Amino acid sequence: MLNQKKTLDTIKQYKSNQQISMLTCYDYVFAQLMDEADIDCLLVGDSVGTNVLGYASEQEVTLADMLHHTKAVARGVQTSFIISDLPYKTYETPEQALQSAQLLIEAGADAVKFEGFYPDIVRLLTAHNIQVVCHLGLLPQTALKKSVQAVDKASIQQLYRHACDLEYAGASMLIVELIPEEVAKEVTNRLSIPVIGIGAGRFCDGQVQIVYDVLGLTKRQFKHVNRFFAFRERLAEVFVAYKKRVQQQTYLDITHSFHVDGV
Ligand code: KIV
Repeated sequence: MLNQKKTLDTIKQYKSNQQISMLTCYDYVFAQLMDEADIDCLLVGDSVGTNVLGYASEQEVTLADMLHHTKAVARGVQTSFIISDLPYKTYETPEQALQSAQLLIEAGADAVKFEGFYPDIVRLLTAHNIQVVCHLGLLPQTALKKSVQAVDKASIQQLYRHACDLEYAGASMLIVELIPEEVAKEVTNRLSIPVIGIGAGRFCDGQVQIVYDVLGLTKRQFKHVNRFFAFRERLAEVFVAYKKRVQQQTYLDITHSFHVDGV
């Protein structure tokens, strides 16, 4: 039997039953692989800018970039739930957020995500039947420095308040980035929507990671990432070996060639 497309209801039910898996995904091939592996949610994050497009920061990512990558991911997916980021400066007012979100949904996203505390945007989008994922803690689009957030009493209390208010406004899911495990655990307990962590410890309802970090494709290594492989080093070996074999004319043998008689 064909697996069914996951919906927000499916994901929400996981909150009390099983951990939710989410990875960033930017293209068709990875979307197919993750979908086949039954990853619950694929996040077409604006981290595409620094990870794939070679931009210096998330602020350079455009809506056109996000539409392009969302479409590619959507073509590869049958069952996973797709979330796409509203890039920097595309949600400066609730009306602008609605226009941007509608385009991402048309491109194949099942829900959209934006960074920060904007309950008005959540309300307007949900009133138009667009499912919204919020993002608190470290906000890569505007953070001046990538440091752990919510470490003093006032900012911890503010995070709890913001998380609850966003849920009340209609958010369907919350991502918390780079906050202490104890704070993330408390947010997870206070909310009835799924809370997914990145650099937020072990006790959220699920985990999201930048896929290239998990695979070891990026040079950097973060404390919050458990690398599965060192793919960067392995791929470098493959490319060197390819060049060597091409130069030595040993890359192809007769079985890889096409033949015709009488020439
Ligand atoms: O863009 C992204 O990849 C994200 C994750 C860091 C959660 O927002």
